[in-house]
Amino acid sequence: MEQKHQTQIHDEGLSFRLMTLKDIPDVMVVERDAFTLPWTEEAFQNELKLNHFARYMVMEYEGRTIGYAGMWTIVDEAHITNIALLGAYRGRKWGERLLNELMKTASFLGMERITLEVRVSNEVAKCLYLKKGFQPAGIRKGYYSDNGEDALIMWADLPPYREYESEEGSEGWV
Ligand SMILES: CC(C)(COP(=O)(O)OP(=O)(O)OC[C@H]1O[C@@H](n2cnc3c(N)ncnc32)[C@H](O)[C@@H]1OP(=O)(O)O)[C@@H](O)C(=O)NCCC(=O)NCCS
Repeated sequence: MEQKHQTQIHDEGLSFRLMTLKDIPDVMVVERDAFTLPWTEEAFQNELKLNHFARYMVMEYEGRTIGYAGMWTIVDEAHITNIALLGAYRGRKWGERLLNELMKTASFLGMERITLEVRVSNEVAKCLYLKKGFQPAGIRKGYYSDNGEDALIMWADLPPYREYESEEGSEGWV
């Protein structure tokens, strides 16, 4: 598939681009801010260097990394591994923008369905996913090793890419 732009600047000073190894220190700041069980630097390195199914993006605001998201794309299914914003930037619909960018890119890459796991207690993320068309599809008991919390599995059908094309911006980061 033809690749379009390397970087796509959106309104509001936001931009999205492919994550590289150099981004990992900044991504770790987001990661530690967002999760009680953060991934390690090594985990990100392995994803970027060794996992050919993995695609990770960073979201910048006026040149600063404020969020990131990633997924595995396997045949026609995308699996979101992580999505996070620095706390100071939440509540402005920018988390929704980040998820939309990920879903749009998955659609651009030919994915038809998308899934994720979310802590059953994470009401903010669950509301966001429901808003974006995800539906609960099961529970993974004791999935999170820090407190034994269950994960809710959610799935959504992805709209065909043409339905995203009229939106501002594009799948610039793949
Ligand atoms: C999940 C996350 C990316 C969402 O981003 P955000 O900036 O907080 O949310 P947004 O401002 O984009 O809001 C989008 C939607 O999320 C939901 N939402 C946001 N804040 C909410 C709140 N306080 N209570 C309930 N729902 C909320 C709503 O559905 C909202 O849409 P609406 O305002 O039209 O109702 C962000 O909160 C985050 O990084 N959290 C920590 C990491 C995390 O939990 N990641 C998910 C792991 S599965």
